[in-house]
Amino acid sequence: MNHILVLFDSHTGNTAKMARLVAEGAARIPDTETRLRSLDEATAADVLWCDGLALGSPTNMGLLSWKMKRFWDEAMLEHWMKIDGKIGCAFSSSGGWGGGTELACQSLLTVLVNFGFLVFGVTDYATSLTTLHYGAVTAREPRSEDTQAACRLLGQRLAEWTAVFLHGRAEQHPARKLAERRGPGAA
Ligand SMILES: Cc1cc2nc3c(=O)[nH]c(=O)nc-3n(C[C@H](O)[C@H](O)[C@H](O)COP(=O)(O)O)c2cc1C
Repeated sequence: MNHILVLFDSHTGNTAKMARLVAEGAARIPDTETRLRSLDEATAADVLWCDGLALGSPTNMGLLSWKMKRFWDEAMLEHWMKIDGKIGCAFSSSGGWGGGTELACQSLLTVLVNFGFLVFGVTDYATSLTTLHYGAVTAREPRSEDTQAACRLLGQRLAEWTAVFLHGRAEQHPARKLAERRGPGAA
């Protein structure tokens, strides 16, 4: 069974809305169990349980929130060097476009790299003008179809990668599924 954790901080509910969409995307992949946890309810055991982690925080001064940093500084520190090899990705909500949302995603990925996570961005377009190279981003709540699609695609891709790389389910590789959708003879 694929184990996906969507772990988030959210002060006014915007990142929490993204988190629910990310979890919906992960659930698209068969044989996937998803846990959705705010920092207030999460424990280190949730991180130990997961194969893949989508980590979300509001953009705070272009960075992850202090509360998210504290979780990794305090709750997770004793597990450092014991949880390498899980797969990770990031998402963030900011006050406005250009407010440092992708920088905040990078700071979340930096934390994950320090714990030995294999982190990724998504090269596909979620919609015609929306991609998520550093993770899913939005200004305030994810109210547009584009940002909602980006959140769902992030969760889906996380569950695809854990299925492929941690459970040997080659049929879940996104490139293979794309080729199958295009059918024989497609370039
Ligand atoms: C301390 C603090 C710092 C913030 N820094 C930024 C920032 O650097 N850039 C930005 O666009 N918005 C910034 N914001 C706004 C939040 O990122 C934004 O309101 C976000 O949608 C909140 O997400 P939440 O509802 O999940 O808490 C900041 C908010 C706070 C409280």
